[in-house]
Amino acid sequence: MRISLAWGRVIFALSGYALAAPSTKFKLKESIAVPRGWIRRDTAPRGLTIDLRIALPQANFPLLEQHLYEVSDPFHERYGNHLTQEEVNELIAPPAESVDAVRSWLADHGLTDSAISRSPAGDWVKVRLPVSLAEEMLDAEYHVWEHASGDTLIRTTAYSLPEHLHGHVELVQPTTLFSRFRPQRAMFHFDQEGQSSTAADNAPAINVPSASGGTVDASCNTTVTVTCLKELYNAVGFTPSSNGKNQVACTGYLNEFANLADLQSFYEDQVPAAVNTSFKLVSISGGQNNQSEPGGEANLDTQFLFGITFPTPATFFTTAGSPPFIPDILTPTDTNEPYLDWLDFILNTPNPPQTISTSYADDEQTVPKSFAQGACAGFAQLGAKGVSLTFSSGDGGVGDGDPDPATQECFTNDGLNKTQFVPLFPPSCPFVTAVGGTIHVPERAVDFSGGGFSNYFPRPSYQDIAVPRFLKKLAPGTYAGLFNPAGRGIPDVAAQADNFRIFFDGRPALIGGTSAAAPTFAGFVSLLNDARIQAGKSPLGFLNPLIYGINLIQTGAFNDITTGNNPGCGTPGFNATIGWDAVTGFGTPNFGILKEIVLGL
Ligand SMILES: *[C@@H]1O[C@H](CO)[C@@H](O)[C@H](O)[C@H]1NC(C)=O
Ligand SMILES: *[C@@H]1O[C@H](CO)[C@@H](O)[C@H](O)[C@H]1NC(C)=O
Ligand SMILES: *[C@@H]1O[C@H](CO)[C@@H](O)[C@H](O)[C@H]1NC(C)=O
Ligand SMILES: *[C@@H]1O[C@H](CO)[C@@H](O)[C@H](O)[C@H]1NC(C)=O
Ligand SMILES: *[C@@H]1O[C@H](CO)[C@@H](O)[C@H](O)[C@H]1NC(C)=O
Repeated sequence: MRISLAWGRVIFALSGYALAAPSTKFKLKESIAVPRGWIRRDTAPRGLTIDLRIALPQANFPLLEQHLYEVSDPFHERYGNHLTQEEVNELIAPPAESVDAVRSWLADHGLTDSAISRSPAGDWVKVRLPVSLAEEMLDAEYHVWEHASGDTLIRTTAYSLPEHLHGHVELVQPTTLFSRFRPQRAMFHFDQEGQSSTAADNAPAINVPSASGGTVDASCNTTVTVTCLKELYNAVGFTPSSNGKNQVACTGYLNEFANLADLQSFYEDQVPAAVNTSFKLVSISGGQNNQSEPGGEANLDTQFLFGITFPTPATFFTTAGSPPFIPDILTPTDTNEPYLDWLDFILNTPNPPQTISTSYADDEQTVPKSFAQGACAGFAQLGAKGVSLTFSSGDGGVGDGDPDPATQECFTNDGLNKTQFVPLFPPSCPFVTAVGGTIHVPERAVDFSGGGFSNYFPRPSYQDIAVPRFLKKLAPGTYAGLFNPAGRGIPDVAAQADNFRIFFDGRPALIGGTSAAAPTFAGFVSLLNDARIQAGKSPLGFLNPLIYGINLIQTGAFNDITTGNNPGCGTPGFNATIGWDAVTGFGTPNFGILKEIVLGL
């Protein structure tokens, strides 16, 4: 004790001429190469205020992860015993030293507790301050950055922290996050024939070569409806009945608004029993749901997810998008970190919906690793609390989907400009269920189905048997250097992803993308949750240990997709194969069989 005190004095004495700031020796915390497409403009306006978020270390995260795996593993005795909000918060609380170190750092800059807001566990601190002060505290230089699309952001490409804070702060944003999360919507066109989905179709029904041995209407081969999906995935005749205890939700970002009139037209067309019912709108950070501006993505998500799960109580979360940054308006700018805003909100919501689908993502490499890890840890907390999360796996196959090497964008961002496949985040997070896409009946992989391997997240243990089996099937040297064979494999599962008949702006339209697959898969998960809750059991929570576990011991619960591939980056991509593959995961759900399995757990 005496020794360390003495050392403290020595250091203090040496820097004695700078009495007010005993340790402002900065050390670089993070620096990034600017993602493709961004151009630096002016320095940030001095008077601008921003909301700075500081993540503190979650010292016990490995323990949270262990709990998550135990309660999500169908072979473990704790299966289904999800954690309470308090238990989760206790596990992710930062060490007291870190809380104190950050508090005194902020206080040194005149930021006292009244200016600061904290997450309930104390792992996130948010403080509003002028950009000039952020520059001083982070030894950074903020600029206005403009994207080729016209979007603008206030960011810095590097920031530092006083050396003694490095162990107490995981990340600070907005700094280096240049991502543009976008809807995974590959195709959209108005249904030229304007044909009703219920129009008589004289073609014979198609036999589905799956364990259910069912049939689907022949029209489903070119126009996908709620009925088609229930037929295809063996859920005809199942009606949710858990009396409001089970809930389902989808998220909306980037000014994607769910139109209520279009939802009614959709219900009249495909789910007549649901006519005159609606969803609960939850606005986060001022998110709107402007009825003059229907969004293709939001309409797709709400119409299909809520159509499949009707009458399950449904929620649409609308999180404020990224309005253009206007340098003349010195109000706090939107920080463009939609997942953090949404996570903040949902992690503090008692009894959140048990199944939540999201169809927005960005190239993993445009998301700073520290941010991806922070958001992914948030998804893990939701899983531990019993929430199932589905994300669309992406619409660019193994890369940006562009076969022309002259225009495709499969290059690393690290300054080396190597050619590399492009996995997406959040589907690359091991704590979410990534959903790839299929097309037609019988189903095959749709060519845009996002798949591959994370460069940030190592292979989670639940993939330890399935993924190496797939990798062994590749000829030696296949795509060497283009992907990380030790990374988390994507996707986990799949569902139909094209020719979905939605209503948009008063008219029927056909739309496709893994954006369609994620809410579809989530719809059947929600029906499974309904069956379990109805039987007095817990919801399914984090799905992947169950999905991979089922596929180890039993076939038929998923319709294995074995044809098709997912080209991108100038390559044919991976092939759909028997068992798990990096195009469609384990395949599409057989609800009837899955229901028996989950009711037996
Ligand atoms: C469905 O459409 C695809 C593509 O046009 C076709 O190859 C396939 O034979 C069709 N399936 C049936 C059962 O007609
Ligand atoms: C829906 O509401 C409208 C207006 O109140 C009513 O005319 C119509 O009969 C209702 N339809 C159904 C199926 O309940
Ligand atoms: C809703 O959108 C319309 C059309 O773009 C716009 O004129 C109106 O100002 C918007 N309303 C709100 C509240 O933002
Ligand atoms: C990276 O390499 C590709 C292909 O050679 C080229 O088109 C692109 O301009 C390069 N980008 C940078 C930032 O050097
Ligand atoms: C995909 O299958 C084709 C045909 O069997 C084969 O030629 C090709 O090498 C396979 N691609 C990969 C990446 O395994």
